[in-house]
Amino acid sequence: MAELTGEAKQRYVAGLFAGIAGRYDLMNTLMTGGRHLAWKETTARLASQGLTGPALDVATGTGDLALALARRPGIDRAVGLDLLPQMVEQARAKAATKGLAEKTDITVGDAMMLPFPDDSFVCVTSGFSLRNMPDLTGALAEMARVAQPGGRIAILELTPMKGGPWAALFRFYFHRAVPLMGRLVAGNASAYTYLPRSVDYFPDADTLAGMLSGRGLIDVGYRRMGLGAVCLHWGIKPPR
Ligand SMILES: C[S@@+](CC[C@H](N)C(=O)[O-])C[C@H]1O[C@@H](n2cnc3c(N)ncnc32)[C@H](O)[C@@H]1O
Repeated sequence: MAELTGEAKQRYVAGLFAGIAGRYDLMNTLMTGGRHLAWKETTARLASQGLTGPALDVATGTGDLALALARRPGIDRAVGLDLLPQMVEQARAKAATKGLAEKTDITVGDAMMLPFPDDSFVCVTSGFSLRNMPDLTGALAEMARVAQPGGRIAILELTPMKGGPWAALFRFYFHRAVPLMGRLVAGNASAYTYLPRSVDYFPDADTLAGMLSGRGLIDVGYRRMGLGAVCLHWGIKPPR
């Protein structure tokens, strides 16, 4: 299923995440040893650094990255958008529990057609989401469109590992242990079989950086985290 594109992929992905929404946070914590929250904090810090105004987190899921943005000093409002009402409901509940409901706006919407005017946000993020988009180039174009000139795009994603000491170990972990965890914890082995396969189909870090530059972003860079399995990419929309 990871090889799907377009509408077929979108339908498959929507069904998959609707099925695991209730166990999504627990699985993230188990799979990453709790590290996913630190990676999201790093992403929010880098995305918002030196900027003042509203922020957007695309495909926010249960809202961790949108809430991390809401906690950043320069961010006056954090919008989190997700395709699935089940995810949006969880993100809203989390914002309320953490006392951030007033500073956040969590909404249902499609990353491929963001319901915002051009140049709306000082920073636009996405976390572990671009792999799931029906059209990666189109999703990047939408993120760049709604960023203000001089604003920053930051993308946190799993990244294919090309080799090195950890690659074989991660491959075993992702392809064998994670689906087993998915079956036992989320009652859904197929969702967590799709996950490692979706990484295999995702562009490597240099290729994704090239795609950001190809969208006209400047000062593009990336940094690996999670022993090389996770990558944080960034770029600036050129000032006018
Ligand atoms: C792996 S989860 C990531 C959630 C969250 N960003 C995180 O880091 O935990 C992928 C999310 O992408 C959402 N999604 C998939 N396709 C989407 C689309 N076209 N527009 C908006 N959200 C989408 C799914 O509903 C799901 O919540």
